[in-house]
Amino acid sequence: MDILNEIKCITHEAKLVQINNQEDLNAYRLTYLSKKGKLAELFEIFKNLEGIEKRLVGKPLNEAKSVIEGIFYEEQSKLKELPAKNFSFDHTKPLANAHHGHVHPISQIQKEIISVFEMIGFNVSQGPEIEDDWHNFSSLNFPQEHPARDMQDTFFVEKDPDWALRTHTSSVQVRVMDVRKPPIRTLAPGRVFRNEAVSSRAHCIFHQIEGLYIDKGVSFADMKQTLLYFAKEFFGESTKIRLRPSYFPFTEPSAEMDVYWGLNSETDYRITKGTGWLEVMGCGMVDPEVLRSSGINPDVYSGFAFGMGIERIAMNRFQITDLRHFFENDIRFLSQFS
Ligand code: DAH
Repeated sequence: MDILNEIKCITHEAKLVQINNQEDLNAYRLTYLSKKGKLAELFEIFKNLEGIEKRLVGKPLNEAKSVIEGIFYEEQSKLKELPAKNFSFDHTKPLANAHHGHVHPISQIQKEIISVFEMIGFNVSQGPEIEDDWHNFSSLNFPQEHPARDMQDTFFVEKDPDWALRTHTSSVQVRVMDVRKPPIRTLAPGRVFRNEAVSSRAHCIFHQIEGLYIDKGVSFADMKQTLLYFAKEFFGESTKIRLRPSYFPFTEPSAEMDVYWGLNSETDYRITKGTGWLEVMGCGMVDPEVLRSSGINPDVYSGFAFGMGIERIAMNRFQITDLRHFFENDIRFLSQFS
């Protein structure tokens, strides 16, 4: 009997229909369940059957109807649930393609340096970025009109030349000594400012970390050992250092410390000026005059200080040839350091 075959085919077909949205559901209803749909057609034929035929077709036709209606109601209720799902918010679900912030490469290096010195009892001190002449220069033994002031081109506050953007974090040394008695073991990280032309090697803003150690009987040998410890912790166990005589008004004797970095890449050549030695910091024994001006008796106490630029170290660590990248906040650059 053709109609029995027809019922089977339509049921089979209806089970295979993909219903993904409201439109699909409507089309399904129109095709199978509406007044002009396929089931209605079959019922029309069924109506005209008689006798044994009618009895044979009735049961499968009603079953087909309930299967096809069942599919319709099930799909309808699934679609109704969807909007509710969209509105429920799972706070723990990781976001796809979300950009996560992370610590800036300069801050990463800064933190790492601090953690090396914290292991040997240094703490962290802060000072203001707009500094008075006394803390930035005079108390550090830069007398007025002294040519040493020209070592650092200064941004002065226009209305009052007694104030300037600090040119180094050495100014924090004096602020610490003003309020604390020795023993002092402190670091002062922060931004400093110099009126310099911006290039791949220099910027008008950069970062330094200052170190200060004052106690009874502190010697140059203590300084050398402390800085060697730092270099080995930070650059690696086999690191070699050298100290070259130098001049800073606030330390006597003064030195500059280089770390042997090697010449393994083009960047190494550029940053070490072809020597393989990386200039890492200035350092020296705190000048007795500086101690005295902060009320610390240089006959009882002595100490050493050091100051390093963070950008230079970060450039070598990350093999970056242009300092300006650190200040441009270009996400393509920064995202490499997550
Ligand atoms: N303040 C110096 C500068 O910015 C760096 C420095 C040199 C700091 C020697 C020190 C030091 O504490 O002892 O160039």
